[in-house]
Amino acid sequence: MSRKYDVVVIGAGPAGYIAAIRAAQHGLQVACIDEWQNRDGKHAFGGTCLNAGCIPSKALLESSELYHRATHEFKKHGITTGDVGIDIAAMQKRRAGIVRQLTGGIAGLFKANKVDGLVGHGKLLADRRVEFTPIEGAVEIVDADHVILASGSTPIELPVAPFDGEKIVDSWDALEFEQVPERLGVVGAGVIGLELGSVWARLGATVTVIEALKDFLSMADRDVAAIAAKDFKKQGLDIRLAATLTSAAPTANGVSVHYEDETGPQTIEVDKLIVAVGRRPFTRELFADDAGIQLDDRGFIVVDDECRTRVKQVFAVGDCVRGPMLAHKGSEEGVMVADLIAGTTSEVNYDVIPSVIYTAPEIAWAGQTEEQVRASGREYKTGTFPFAASGRAKAMEQTSGIVKVISASDDDEILGVHIIGPMAGELIAEAVLAMEFSASTEDLQRTIHAHPSLAEALHEAALAVDKRALNYVNR
Ligand code: FAD
Ligand code: NAI
Repeated sequence: MSRKYDVVVIGAGPAGYIAAIRAAQHGLQVACIDEWQNRDGKHAFGGTCLNAGCIPSKALLESSELYHRATHEFKKHGITTGDVGIDIAAMQKRRAGIVRQLTGGIAGLFKANKVDGLVGHGKLLADRRVEFTPIEGAVEIVDADHVILASGSTPIELPVAPFDGEKIVDSWDALEFEQVPERLGVVGAGVIGLELGSVWARLGATVTVIEALKDFLSMADRDVAAIAAKDFKKQGLDIRLAATLTSAAPTANGVSVHYEDETGPQTIEVDKLIVAVGRRPFTRELFADDAGIQLDDRGFIVVDDECRTRVKQVFAVGDCVRGPMLAHKGSEEGVMVADLIAGTTSEVNYDVIPSVIYTAPEIAWAGQTEEQVRASGREYKTGTFPFAASGRAKAMEQTSGIVKVISASDDDEILGVHIIGPMAGELIAEAVLAMEFSASTEDLQRTIHAHPSLAEALHEAALAVDKRALNYVNR
């Protein structure tokens, strides 16, 4: 006799494991199938985010930032130290420990919520039957009332620079370098390129980033991108724009990288090359031909606004469907789908999903950029406040950056908030909450913010929208 569940989730990344837990909290019988294998051959729940993405990258960003501050900022505070060194093995051990704790935590959460975590491969067959191939043991057919596909994504590999896992690497390998490469090349000045480029630059690598587009950080507001470009240059990141990779090949000493920019063909030699040109949905062996699942021309599973596929009672969430490839976007889709399955109303507000780039300074935004608002034709006003005028930022010695608020001229709606500066990834939460609750700019202006705090910069930027900033000369 085959097992039967109310809900079977395939994939235990932040989209899938959250969907499983939420469904179980509704009292449903839930199984979550996951096949992730770490480099040591061991399985761990958590998918890309916990094992090879969000969490390990933030662990290394923190370590490298502390090292950078110790070597560059301590003196200003009057702190003297002996020689400051960095032990890469210890840094990596800490990173691995954090990952182990958090992925183990998911196994604990499954147990506490009575989710059956099944380790192995899941494949959707016709009629919501799922073929489960355990890592060890016999293949089993599991019947499900509802199926949630949450299979995630994988790095895009360029045919002109195939990964060899040694010298030409993806982001996962780049998180596990055992020593600092002297010369590091990065293809793609996107989120991964900038975060991982920053990690290794802070630890001493000479970093060259090759970016195909002419505009730096094209998805961000132009004012923010301009500040970021200046700051990253100061930090030693050599970002070459309008530069398209033509080939890269390992040599005896490293990698020979060829690209073309506006002046013609160029070559650089590096020790390691990270290729970070985006990710693509991962759906290999995820469903049988007759399961009824449709992919779009970019390989994403086709779903509607409620993450329903074309097959009744089969949903898909996270990186394998349209929308930004962000952990929190996938998790919220997981929550929505579990709620819908349980018969309650639920939705995801795709207009207010925060984006954060964890560089120094951090970059974060929610809503539309000024360029998008202008293109929409809506009348708007903007207010900007620099961290250089923030007492807290000064005390922290982190004064680079701004908060920019974009508001509608007619009804004062907050259309976009863009932050580059200290703790931008935390500060954006207030803007997200305000936008989620349809607060007006005046509501932000009339909200009391603690002094001195970084959050005051958002308060002042909101005031600046109406030329009422109190701690900065309005323009
Ligand atoms: P995944 O996390 O990819 O999980 C999918 C899981 O499904 C995996 O465990 C996979 O093995 C399993 N699976 C797939 N197919 C099957 C199958 N057929 N059977 C069984 N199991 C299967 N996002 C952020 O929001 N913030 C960040 O700071 C951030 N940093 C990142 C840093 C890096 C270096 C990278 C690479 C990504 C980062 N991301 C970040 C993106 C984030 O990791 C993804 O958006 C997120 O992991 C997507 O979640 P998911 O659950 O859809 O897929
Ligand atoms: P990305 O889409 O952010 O950036 C890829 C960059 O590579 C783009 O700027 C693109 O123009 C460039 N590019 C593409 N082909 C190229 C070529 N042949 N030569 C030179 N440049 C080329 O993708 P990335 O950085 O790989 O990240 C993947 C996903 O992971 C992102 O969509 C992001 O959402 C997610 N992520 C999120 C993080 C966060 O939230 N902090 C951190 C890291 C990743």
